[in-house]
Amino acid sequence: MKRLFATKSLDLLLEEMAGEHRLHRVLGPVSLTAMGIGTIIGAGIFVVIGAVAHDTTGPAIIVSLMVSGVACVFAALCYAEFASMAPVAGSAYTYAYATLGELFAWIIGWDLILEYTVAASSVALGWSHYFQNLIGMLGVSIPECIARAPFDNDPLTGHLVLTGTFIDLPAFLVSALLTIILVLGIKESARFNAVMVVIKLSVVLFVIVVGAFYVIPENWHPFAPFGWKGLSFFGGSLTWGEISAGKPLGMLAGAGIMFFAYIGFDCVSTQAEEARNPQRDVPIGIIASLMICTVLYIAVAAVLTGMVPAKDIQIDAPISAAFGQVGIPWAQSIIGIGAMAGLTSVLLTLMLGQPRILLAMARDGLLPKSVFAAIHPRFRTPWKSSIITGAAVATLSSLIPLRVLLELVNIGTLLAFVMVCLAVLIMRRTNPNATRPFRCPFVPLTPILGTVLCLVLMLALPPANWWRLLLWLLVGFYIYYRYGRHHSVLAKERAKEKD
Ligand code: ALA
Repeated sequence: MKRLFATKSLDLLLEEMAGEHRLHRVLGPVSLTAMGIGTIIGAGIFVVIGAVAHDTTGPAIIVSLMVSGVACVFAALCYAEFASMAPVAGSAYTYAYATLGELFAWIIGWDLILEYTVAASSVALGWSHYFQNLIGMLGVSIPECIARAPFDNDPLTGHLVLTGTFIDLPAFLVSALLTIILVLGIKESARFNAVMVVIKLSVVLFVIVVGAFYVIPENWHPFAPFGWKGLSFFGGSLTWGEISAGKPLGMLAGAGIMFFAYIGFDCVSTQAEEARNPQRDVPIGIIASLMICTVLYIAVAAVLTGMVPAKDIQIDAPISAAFGQVGIPWAQSIIGIGAMAGLTSVLLTLMLGQPRILLAMARDGLLPKSVFAAIHPRFRTPWKSSIITGAAVATLSSLIPLRVLLELVNIGTLLAFVMVCLAVLIMRRTNPNATRPFRCPFVPLTPILGTVLCLVLMLALPPANWWRLLLWLLVGFYIYYRYGRHHSVLAKERAKEKD
């Protein structure tokens, strides 16, 4: 039992951080905020917003974005306290190791593995939609049989239907290409990221400013055609809210799915090792990037639902399509190019982040080092785990439709946020005197509200998400039982100390 809850001490984390093989400290508060925005703005606001407004919320998606934004702000304040105390890579996984113990760290790490893969697959799929939309404007189209996944989910019945196609080839190819780039080690530099962020922000501002002229307030009525609720548990019996085709509907259900759009601010904490003054700048980066994106998202949602009636919002490339629908087709290509730049940078960051988590877990002995900590002798990249990640993303994104992927995403990140909120509470008790350059305000209220709101959002997710979590965790427990607990570096050290 003791072994399962063994923690990595704060001192050990800081010692590891001071070790030799650390990265250069070059990032300031602006670069860190830009990194956050670079990871946050992507498929959520360019793609997912369409399916959610159309199927789940109507214009009330504006409120959904506020609710998930608030949940993220609470979690972000907790992340910021942790990141300032222990500015090391590994994020939620590392924080859980330091507070809740090895088993919880394993659960979070294992959970984030799947989360990153599913999130990256959704982004790759969004990329494919925008790509096809863009070449369509040039009068080019790819054969239908390689344009989308072989099946789809009918939102009216909830049943899977065959589409008569084979594969989403562009999604497959973009994942494969990025995998090659990541293996070769062309690392996403701060400058490349800055360029992407400028393009993305310009396009988002363009959408808000130009779109505002085409808003027809009548489109906001009815504001919440699917209601305001949307809580369920495994699709039924403990239900509070409307259920259709086995899935929750309404504003809260939309908040659960739109949470996807905010995933990424936590990545700023993984850059802590590269920050010049991590104690001050990482909290600034996390909170500033989140605030900026929240405001922009709410504005985009208001404009989109004001431009086009919710039932006519397109699913594949909703933002650019909306400009076509109101009669300004020239804007579509600008948005298409911006969206593709944005999606590429998010995809790259997610696919870069996953091997890093695998690496951190392998270094701690919880996964086989020979595979997941293998560094390529020439390219100096975690090549094996990058290829495994890339293969998984390419397979999922090319064979599974967006509506199904969206039912699987989010729960892992929400669980990680719950753990980080709890970890702040625990750390305040176990290490009350540790230096906290950034203190989360209103403790215990903030972490408690963060935990509760994230749990509410988890309950607002479609049932497939819970099954995914349950099955994945069962597999995870089995692997930990058979492998991790015997090979864990911490367990070995303890055993040595005993001898
Ligand atoms: N927040 C990221 C996106 O919306 C994952 O693409």
